[in-house]
Amino acid sequence: MSTGRSLTVLLLTVMSLTADPAFPPASDLPRQTALPDPLIARDGTRIGTVADWNDRRRPELKALIQHYMYGQLPERPDRVTFDVGAVHRDFLDGRATLKLIRIGFGDTDAPAIDLMLATPNGRPGRVPVFLAMNFCGNHAVTADPRVPLTRGWLYDSCKGCQENRATDEARGGQQQDWPIGEILDRGYAFATFCSSDIDSDRKDVSDGIYAWLAGKSGADARAADRGTIAAWAWGFHRCVDYLVQDPLVDGGRIAVVGHSRNGKTALLAAAFDERIALAIPHQAGCGGTAPSRGTVGESVKRINDVFPHWFGPGFKAFNDDPARLPFDQNALVALVAPRPVLFGNAAEDQWANPRGQFEVLKAAEGVYELLGGGRCDAAEPPPNDRLVASRLGYFIRPGKHSMTAGDWRVFLEFADRHLRPTR
Ligand code: GCU
Repeated sequence: MSTGRSLTVLLLTVMSLTADPAFPPASDLPRQTALPDPLIARDGTRIGTVADWNDRRRPELKALIQHYMYGQLPERPDRVTFDVGAVHRDFLDGRATLKLIRIGFGDTDAPAIDLMLATPNGRPGRVPVFLAMNFCGNHAVTADPRVPLTRGWLYDSCKGCQENRATDEARGGQQQDWPIGEILDRGYAFATFCSSDIDSDRKDVSDGIYAWLAGKSGADARAADRGTIAAWAWGFHRCVDYLVQDPLVDGGRIAVVGHSRNGKTALLAAAFDERIALAIPHQAGCGGTAPSRGTVGESVKRINDVFPHWFGPGFKAFNDDPARLPFDQNALVALVAPRPVLFGNAAEDQWANPRGQFEVLKAAEGVYELLGGGRCDAAEPPPNDRLVASRLGYFIRPGKHSMTAGDWRVFLEFADRHLRPTR
């Protein structure tokens, strides 16, 4: 074959792999003002069986959601290593065991995730676990000096951080909001990792997983074209890789938690990984639990303008007309079905559109019913402080945007019902 011909063949092959005619540009998609029904497939047919949902619609939705919104979740690397650096059996005055694990990818340039795991002592059998992504470092959720300071960039708003680095002053900076002792006393393990280990939250810098992958492939890691939320969700998945093989943890009862941008991530992580048993995206709002078509609080345009790195490039095409999105966030909830999901809210946090979030839950009911998960127990948003504890769970409390120890008590109540820890 001549060089010219082989180049043409190569080009055509690459084009056929990248330009998927099934994904038209946003401007060619029909406007749908109501939340699209996840049970209607792209070809217009209605999904009526579990097999059809699992084999046809699930993969279709996952492809659409990545293409038009979050960007592709990175692949699981060929090598995932777990280095259990330390095991301290005297954590929390001897009530728990603290394990410090480094999750690596067999390459010194690769990002490494520091996972902190605390398991309650003296309990027979494996325990369910909460896995939460934190903003300010593992060292901020406990003052125990054996927990290493987060190595990379951190928000300067984190207590004890200077010039975006953690200092010893940062230890325990958020411990009042993370009641680890209570979580363990209730029969759960608690695991956490920091988003910055995977990709620091900066629109102009790409320093994590994408930079590493780009270095490997020679591609360009343009900061604004990456999907940081997809990268963070990948981080959840790598922590799940560890947890499912830890001898003290029940890998069938992993609950993921995240607040706000971390809640958007927790929902995406659960939607794309069925090893996750329960999801708590707390006050996650636009790009997470609130409808992209919502008219209250943050809009698609606003989130893409202020945080251009959070979503893939495809999402920006919907800035001026989110009604053209071929799905809405109820499709992510539907991908979690029939597993339990809890949307937590605060009455003063209208930026996150609490009412719209309730509608998102309701618009996933069809899939929950199909898969045996039942409907949401409430027809209307509940009053403040009343937990709707069905698998499609919801609660709203007075106050502002935050994740507090009081919120954790609600998470525990919800998890008690669905994961049934032994006390
Ligand atoms: C901003 C952003 C929200 C996000 C929140 C947070 O308010 O607009 O989308 O959820 O930050 O992560 O705290």
